[in-house]
Amino acid sequence: MLTTYLKILNDHYQALNNEGKDVIQGLTQTPKSLPPKYFYDDRGSELFEQICELPEYYPTRTEAWILRQHADEIAQITGACELVELGSGSSTKTRFLLDAYQKIPRSCKYIPVDVSEGILKSSVLQLQQKYAQLSIEGLIGTYEQALAKVESISVPSRMIFFLGSSIGNFTAQECNRFLRQIARTLKTGDYFLLGIDLQKPKDILEAAYNDSQGVTAAFNLNMLSHLNWRFQGNFDLNLFTHEAIYNQAQTQIEMYLHCLESHWVSLETLNLNVFFEVGESILTEISRKFDLVTIQKELELQGLKTLKIWTDPNQWFGLILCQA
Ligand code: AVI
Repeated sequence: MLTTYLKILNDHYQALNNEGKDVIQGLTQTPKSLPPKYFYDDRGSELFEQICELPEYYPTRTEAWILRQHADEIAQITGACELVELGSGSSTKTRFLLDAYQKIPRSCKYIPVDVSEGILKSSVLQLQQKYAQLSIEGLIGTYEQALAKVESISVPSRMIFFLGSSIGNFTAQECNRFLRQIARTLKTGDYFLLGIDLQKPKDILEAAYNDSQGVTAAFNLNMLSHLNWRFQGNFDLNLFTHEAIYNQAQTQIEMYLHCLESHWVSLETLNLNVFFEVGESILTEISRKFDLVTIQKELELQGLKTLKIWTDPNQWFGLILCQA
């Protein structure tokens, strides 16, 4: 029998009440920046789904290919366990894992976690139809809130997974903090499955983040629309332009919005007026590209031991299974 719950983490809304401080901080510093979480209003989540389908954006389909090839093996290694997916979105690729875990005789539970209520609700409903043997309980909230919640409930075995190389959107410091939190949440013997985008030639990377159809540009600019509705702002999207560059020294893509004309912008509910110089840029996202040796060391430092790594034939993307 299928049980589907949708739990709303109350303090998510408290966190929302505090939001905006990071916008003030980012826009009043030099150089200006904005936190990538503001990409994801409903329109932004839709645009991200479109990015995942773009011919130039290889990460989604490459990771899906690896999952399709190796999901059964992953399920065999871990055996039945509670599956917690951080940043599940539409859970599209996850279906390869759910197919594999559904074949395991003992029942499994799948807990997708996402901040976006709309996308989580619709994907839980769809999964409910397809995976009758699995119990599915969606959690709406941030990773921190979900991990705290999960930690408080003891289960015989658990695998947390974090796909899509979303870990690449954290700075090195945020990444270490996140891995520490994962390690704290897991008991000895539990599993962590991590998808990471690997280093590769600059032209492939820059094409993936400056696509020919302009979807990534629309995704980047949509952050300003999001700030406009959320904080009663008056950003004029025509006065900014998108660019993504690969910073070879830092091995990261950097996404910018460049200002085309000097002007003032106000965000009323934040009581903020900001002046933009022509040519000034806002850093909206970093997307770090990893090498397998370094990331394994970082995982190991937090007590997460690599059991197995899978990649695609081009070695563009990696999937690492670790055990706490
Ligand atoms: C969500 N994250 C892993 C994406 C990435 O590739 O860093 C976000 C993205 N930004 C532009 N395109 C995709």
